[in-house]
Amino acid sequence: MGSEILPELEIGSRACRTKIGFTMFSVIQNNPALSPFAPANHQAYAQWREQKLRHYPSAAEALRVDISNPLGLLPAEHAQILTNIRKTNLALYRITDPVSADKQAIRDLGRQFGLEHLDSNICADEDSITSLRVVESGRHKGYIPYSNRRLSWHTDGYYNPLDKQIRAIVMHCVIPAQDGGINMYLDHEILYLYLRDRDPAYISALMRPDVMTIPPNVEDGDEVGGEQRGPVCSIDTTGNLHMRYSARTRNIRWRDDAVTAKAVEYMSELLNSDMPYLLRYHLQANEGVICNNVLHNRTAFTDSDDPAKKRLLYRARYFDRVQGADVTL
Ligand SMILES: [Fe+2]
Repeated sequence: MGSEILPELEIGSRACRTKIGFTMFSVIQNNPALSPFAPANHQAYAQWREQKLRHYPSAAEALRVDISNPLGLLPAEHAQILTNIRKTNLALYRITDPVSADKQAIRDLGRQFGLEHLDSNICADEDSITSLRVVESGRHKGYIPYSNRRLSWHTDGYYNPLDKQIRAIVMHCVIPAQDGGINMYLDHEILYLYLRDRDPAYISALMRPDVMTIPPNVEDGDEVGGEQRGPVCSIDTTGNLHMRYSARTRNIRWRDDAVTAKAVEYMSELLNSDMPYLLRYHLQANEGVICNNVLHNRTAFTDSDDPAKKRLLYRARYFDRVQGADVTL
């Protein structure tokens, strides 16, 4: 693994992709069964795997792109963010102009990557972008994201219905915590790769439509979300890998069979290991993340006593994936 900034040519931008690349791209789009993530596609998987690991960054800082104006990215800024997402499903940005980005700026930033359809989860603000801060009362109380507690590994919206899965996220830091609130990220394709390399049966088990069940979400005695059952790993209509996962042991029911138990145990082992693909980053003010809903967690944090300096992040969750970052061979 190299820690250098990712060279665009190495990954293959749309402009420099070979004719074969274009052909495979459209073939996968037209027939997701040809995706390298399909368990039977051994050759495609081997080819994808080799590309995936080549020059994979070893530090989150390598994925950070300075941008001057989120409302209108310069072509080079846009290209570098997309290049990073194509490699790792994740890019970080840092706004260099001394202006604070508001929610509209985050909305506009997402739009430049084809992110349009926002999820209005029950705790989102009126504009469907969530203000993540510590909330002591009201509806948000009781949800860990609105506390200063540690957040364990998960993908966003794993409890959503299958037709409303979260494919991408933009998370923007307005005010960091006084102490803590550090994120770790893991490209879900890397987790898939480790699982498949250890035992392809793990992938088949995790693709079962009944492998992971989330019980109904009950709030003050009322059910606000029904039971959700679905796969951990799935392949979308364009051949991309999607993952729904939560490390929480409470409120997750795993399919009761030996292979699933081993696969879940191995995932947990990897997420708690020191594998070099776990990327750690402490978002500062005016920095943010654009990603294809990769796995992530957060350390606990301490807020300032000053009400004006309490941790605040804006989070936008999309039903779309980042445009131009589909899997290719
Ligand atoms: Fe999250």
